[in-house]
Amino acid sequence: MAEKLIEIKNLKQYFNVGKPNMVKAVDGVTFDIYKGETLGLVGESGCGKSTTGRTIIRLYEATGGQVLFNGENVHGKKSKAELKKFNRKMQMIFQDPYASLDPRMTVADIIAEGIDIHGLAKSKKERMERVYELLETVGLNKEHANRYPHEFSGGQRQRIGIARALAVKPEFIIADEPISALDVSIQAQIVNLLKKLQREKGLTYLFIAHDLSMVKYISDRIGVMYYGKIVEMASSDELYENPVHPYTKSLLSAIPLPDPDYERTRVRKIYDPSQHQYGPEDKVELREVAPNHLVLCSEREFEQYKKEYEKK
Ligand SMILES: Nc1ncnc2c1ncn2[C@@H]1O[C@H](COP(=O)(O)OP(=O)(O)O)[C@@H](O)[C@H]1O
Ligand SMILES: [Mg+2]
Repeated sequence: MAEKLIEIKNLKQYFNVGKPNMVKAVDGVTFDIYKGETLGLVGESGCGKSTTGRTIIRLYEATGGQVLFNGENVHGKKSKAELKKFNRKMQMIFQDPYASLDPRMTVADIIAEGIDIHGLAKSKKERMERVYELLETVGLNKEHANRYPHEFSGGQRQRIGIARALAVKPEFIIADEPISALDVSIQAQIVNLLKKLQREKGLTYLFIAHDLSMVKYISDRIGVMYYGKIVEMASSDELYENPVHPYTKSLLSAIPLPDPDYERTRVRKIYDPSQHQYGPEDKVELREVAPNHLVLCSEREFEQYKKEYEKK
């Protein structure tokens, strides 16, 4: 059995936006992330993916729930040293590598920022050697060190963002739509780089995406999120082959394939959340339709989902 690196238990993140209004961006999310795996988190824009990521690494204080990293509570009262330790072990890569790279800093200083904060180099020489090594690791080179972010293409900037994250030798990386802003031709390169780094360094990823098209190739398991909740979670193959929740089916029907026959007959399924008529007596929770395949549903829906599943 794989070891758990991250345990997320009933995590909540509510934003107060004017008195009576509360945005339940993350509304009771529970899942584990195993050491060395990639967990894909998918859902349309605004469903709470980034907030989940940011709350896990404590960029936001959680409204409720728990996050354990190697069994240790990430939230709650922490000393500066403890917070710094978590900061080093959990890093983030962002969607827009340009907005997240300071335009006035050289690539070397951007990459070395974490090295400086955490005192990971004993001398200037060691610091630069580390920067050069990181540039190589992400497919750039020494000559890039003294340049500025605007001199690079989108894909190269994302490589710089990855080098910056790797600089502090993290165990866990949240990649928040790291390829969404890139040309399709570049997307695969970045995904392959992330995969290579994972193999070489034993990294664990939470890979966030707004559609299901690329996630399959990088994720071992996928969680589908809708309005602050996980509605379905399974291994990638299982999710693509046997989707159960109507929202997942709708996301899958939106993926175009380079096959004209398929495209001619592809029917986009529209998800209608009002199809779930829950009464106050309904216990809506994640239930296991097949081993390790969870679906958010009531008891009644569960019976129906199971029947449909077994018919296949
Ligand atoms: N800092 C914030 N203050 C108030 N509302 C926020 C904040 N961040 C995100 N939200 C809201 O929370 C919801 C989820 O946002 P987000 O996590 O960014 O979604 P996603 O990454 O899936 O697109 C959205 O309704 C968004 O408007
Ligand atoms: Mg987001």
